[in-house]
Amino acid sequence: MSNGGEGNPIIRAIKESVAWRSLFRQPYPTTSRTRALAVMNNVFLHLHPVRVKRHAVRYTYTFCLGGISFFLFLNLTVTGLFLMFFYVPSVSQAYQDIQAIEASVAFGGFVRNMHRWAAHLMVLTVFLHMIRVFYHGAYKPPREFNWVIGVLLLFLTLALSFSGYLLPWDQIAFWAITVGTQLATYFPIVADEASFFILGGIQIGQGTLLRFYVAHVIFFPLITAILMVVHFWRIRKDGGISGPV
Ligand code: HEM
Repeated sequence: MSNGGEGNPIIRAIKESVAWRSLFRQPYPTTSRTRALAVMNNVFLHLHPVRVKRHAVRYTYTFCLGGISFFLFLNLTVTGLFLMFFYVPSVSQAYQDIQAIEASVAFGGFVRNMHRWAAHLMVLTVFLHMIRVFYHGAYKPPREFNWVIGVLLLFLTLALSFSGYLLPWDQIAFWAITVGTQLATYFPIVADEASFFILGGIQIGQGTLLRFYVAHVIFFPLITAILMVVHFWRIRKDGGISGPV
């Protein structure tokens, strides 16, 4: 069994140094107990479970659809941050900014397309992930709470897509959001108030663009990130991925 290079004097010296000891509090893990300690004593490794069931790492069990959704979310965060440097949510400037991103920003068109494709793909992978979970009956106790968190994540993914759609402020965005936000006028009792709340005015305009921008870059991503942390934490607390054992 490997002893983590203890035979090599240089590696041994590094591992006995104060810097190394301050990061890794126990010797190279060689037993079940020291392996569990190594995971629990390190904030980064702590995110991983100490043990994983064999079926849970079989690709064809989950198709990694949840993992791919998370990866796409990270991708969207990074590419979205890039786009924020070149985009101003103003009705007189937004469309020009998008054209400038496409035409004159280095890698602008590439990053914008990554953002768009990742957004479309995320809707698809989250949906397929939900179908996979349903097919395995993983919504049943003890995972029913995580199913509810998942439903919220699905709605948030759709909300992120919908709110981002208006931002280019081109004709297709303007009219798609006009149609979409008309739904609010069918609200029972508080139709006018609901419509005003979503549009930030009585019709789509600067108020709507700013509202959608703030929701798209701060509100929805923040809530999504928090719920993802709860989602992942629950998977561990519910005994790892569901399965035959
Ligand atoms: C942003 C959206 C989501 C992300 C990033 C996400 C992420 C994940 C990941 C990484 C897993 C581990 C297994 C796997 O990869 O399949 C998982 C499991 C799970 N997810 Fe999601 N998920 C999301 C949405 C949903 C939705 C929409 C539902 C259901 C409505 C859901 C319900 C569950 C349940 C119940 C489990 C445990 C499955 C099992 O034990 O087999 N998740 N999720």
